[in-house]
Amino acid sequence: MSASLATVSYIGATILFILSLGGLSNPETSRRGNWYGIIGMALAVLATIFGPRVTTGGIAWIVIAMAIGATVGLYAAKKVKMTQMPELVALMHSLVGFAACTVGYASYIDSSTVFTGAEKAIHEMEIYIGILIGAVTFSGSVIAFGKLSGKINGKPLLLPARHMINLAGLLVVIWMGNVFINAESALGGVFPLILMTLIALAFGVHMVMAIGGADMPVVVSMLNSYSGWAAAATGFMLSNDLLIVTGALVGSSGAILSYIMCRAMNRNFISVIAGGFGTGDGGSAKKSGDAAQEPVGEVVPVSASDTAELLKDAKSVIIVPGYGMAVAQAQHTVYEITKILRERGVNVRFGIHPVAGRMPGHMNVLLAEARVPYDIVMEMDELNDDFPSTDVAMVIGANDIVNPAAQDDPDSPIAGMPVLEVWKAKTSIVMKRSMASGYAGVDNPLFYKENNRMLFGDAKKMLDEVLAAIKD
Ligand code: TAP
Repeated sequence: MSASLATVSYIGATILFILSLGGLSNPETSRRGNWYGIIGMALAVLATIFGPRVTTGGIAWIVIAMAIGATVGLYAAKKVKMTQMPELVALMHSLVGFAACTVGYASYIDSSTVFTGAEKAIHEMEIYIGILIGAVTFSGSVIAFGKLSGKINGKPLLLPARHMINLAGLLVVIWMGNVFINAESALGGVFPLILMTLIALAFGVHMVMAIGGADMPVVVSMLNSYSGWAAAATGFMLSNDLLIVTGALVGSSGAILSYIMCRAMNRNFISVIAGGFGTGDGGSAKKSGDAAQEPVGEVVPVSASDTAELLKDAKSVIIVPGYGMAVAQAQHTVYEITKILRERGVNVRFGIHPVAGRMPGHMNVLLAEARVPYDIVMEMDELNDDFPSTDVAMVIGANDIVNPAAQDDPDSPIAGMPVLEVWKAKTSIVMKRSMASGYAGVDNPLFYKENNRMLFGDAKKMLDEVLAAIKD
């Protein structure tokens, strides 16, 4: 393939990636967006393999590497459960960081192209910054994987003088950068490079360890952004324009997503990075010394058949799905119930919180999989004012996102986070297995409200019973 054909293919792939991002911003166009992304990536890979920079001898190596990578990828994608998706994404981010590091070292050691003067300084700067971002992304993502999969405790690790430790690390990294660029020989540059890599790895670990469970949604999108910048840095090192553009697209969209997540949780980005918020350790908010009020009152259980009666008698119903619906894989039954109620003239809508579940858009993906029509799936802001005129608000495996303490209790660890105000409906029904707290480890006073009923049990099992009772 000639160099100009490869360039045209790269431009085509870039346009397809931009169209893909545009498509993914709306559920109705997201399938198309996915296709644009797939075609764009296939084009980019083919143009790279058959482009002018790969020799015929090199193609065999690339094919072997791709076969191994594709096998691992296919196996992982087939095996992973929907609820494990965020962990898989975190692991994939770590690979981008790892690739940036290895490409950085390879570019430094590579003696086939000799740079001199300003070009040499720029090339070395690209290597240094590329490895720095790559190492932070790599170790941070591995820790995020550990936290999301429960292998590492979600509690924030707050070392004494942690900000000073980070600052000292940053100063050493800047100093080593100076030593690296001014090194007389390649060998002389290796020591500062290795020292910086070790500091960056330690910083990645420290940064994510300090972030509490409640801030994990922001961390996932932040690492997504970092992996984009790591890919862009790799693009600079390899002088590959497509990688630079693609990395910048991922980096900036991840940054926008982090901003949206922060807004959804009423958090400021700097305080997320500073860490220490939320215990993430199931119900341990009180143990950790938070002054949150303990909810008081009585919990009123309800049966599946009574739930069915309440739903049948209602004129309007809002369903609020959460992480528990994903665990129970109850989305198909939820839609069966929705269909029957809609046939009976009940106005049924879904209320989606931006951080419901464990990854951005988690609930939207599940509902789309169950073929719930997009026009009844609403964002939190679109229907939060409608709860007072709603007969039944049905909460399926959600907890933190419907916790009134976020509004009423200034000492609550989730104070200020916008929530779906289900308690304002005539009746709210919460479907979950026990009184356990949600991801943020905070008690939920909703359960004790007078107009609230608890339907205890696995969401799928209980919904099957509700469906059978409605059909009767
Ligand atoms: P959570 O607050 O985690 O509550 C989920 C509830 O589902 C739990 O209280 C659990 O109670 C229940 N549950 C679990 N398995 C169930 C099953 N099989 N059947 C019925 N119920 C079941 O979830 P949420 O309300 O969706 O809020 C999301 C939380 O995750 C937020 O704190 C958010 O910050 C955090 N988070 C979000 C993300 C993203 S990007 N969305 C990423 C990381 C963390 P029982 O054990 O009593 O059943």
